[in-house]
Amino acid sequence: EKGNYRHYMLKEIYEQPTVVAQTLQSYIHQAENRMALPQIDFDLSAIRRVTIVACGTSYYAGMVAKYWFEAFARVPVDIDFASEFRYRDPVLEEGGLALFISQSGETADTLAALRYCKAAGQTVAVVVNVPTSSMAREADLLLPTHAGPEIGVASTKAFTCQLAVLAALAAHLAVKKGRMDRNEEHEVVRHLLEAPAALNAALDHDDDIAAMAHLVAPARDVLYLGRGPDFPLALEGALKLKEISYIHAEGYASGEMKHGPIALIDEAVPVIVLAPSGPLFEKTVSNMQEVRARGGKIVLISDEEGLAEAGEGCLATIAMPRVHPLIAPLVYAVPVQLLAYHVACVKGTDVDQPRNLAKSVTVE
Ligand code: M6R
Repeated sequence: EKGNYRHYMLKEIYEQPTVVAQTLQSYIHQAENRMALPQIDFDLSAIRRVTIVACGTSYYAGMVAKYWFEAFARVPVDIDFASEFRYRDPVLEEGGLALFISQSGETADTLAALRYCKAAGQTVAVVVNVPTSSMAREADLLLPTHAGPEIGVASTKAFTCQLAVLAALAAHLAVKKGRMDRNEEHEVVRHLLEAPAALNAALDHDDDIAAMAHLVAPARDVLYLGRGPDFPLALEGALKLKEISYIHAEGYASGEMKHGPIALIDEAVPVIVLAPSGPLFEKTVSNMQEVRARGGKIVLISDEEGLAEAGEGCLATIAMPRVHPLIAPLVYAVPVQLLAYHVACVKGTDVDQPRNLAKSVTVE
């Protein structure tokens, strides 16, 4: 039930601190400060390559995970949309882990890709939210998200729980491959366990986001920019806005702006910039200045330090807690979800049941 919430989507956005904590609990051995994955009967340290396949929001979770697998475990990662992967004759080498990410566990293209990989002899792992789903049943390694039933068509809490599982899996793989020592593992555990409180702190800015949604609602087009592991969040923000507000939106890697999309910039196109403090902050800010120099209207989402440095002259700013870069993609999911939600409310669209969309895409 929706309880006191106006929509399921809003309720599910607010459940994130709790369900992410629940999910992390089943992947972290708290007393020992270590990763703890479900028992499996094959040797993860033998994995030489990871192939990630998914659709929509689950695909964006996979994009974030690629950064983590590469940075932590130094394992090469391929990622593809299921609808592309299954028809392109992919090269699958021995010792590969095929990783499927799906809230429903029933998405037709993802399921077909899973069966293809299984037949090709890959080890099949799935990150799914429905433990009784087809994908859960057919996998060698089941990695459940504990988000609980997700009713809103726009995926929210499933996404942040997928990220929590994927971060744990990447760290676990790194440990197994001897790429991460005990101290580094402790640090990762510590940062992951900070996520629920940081998600709560992000939710505290709901009213600020509601108050500025009318600035974005009249736009015909909106751009989202992010870098590194926050680039997929730009794509996710654009997808959320498209789905529920019907505003055309695109996400770009910040550094790609000057290779074309900057031609679109004028005062009618709000540019949402995701820029947490961290090693990539300065780079993103310089891309933001390029937008501003062309009359672009910027909504900057950053922490206090970031806003103090670059917040001046923006159309609006959204403050986030200062967090470790590892958990920034989870925390920055909240403002992009809430922004899409409040813009949709301003526009009066059907948030939980947007036109033309179904919760689970079981046709090709
Ligand atoms: O159930 P799945 O995670 O496999 O679904 C994949 C996509 O259909 C899904 O994420 C879709 O993009 C959502 N409506 C996004 O909000």
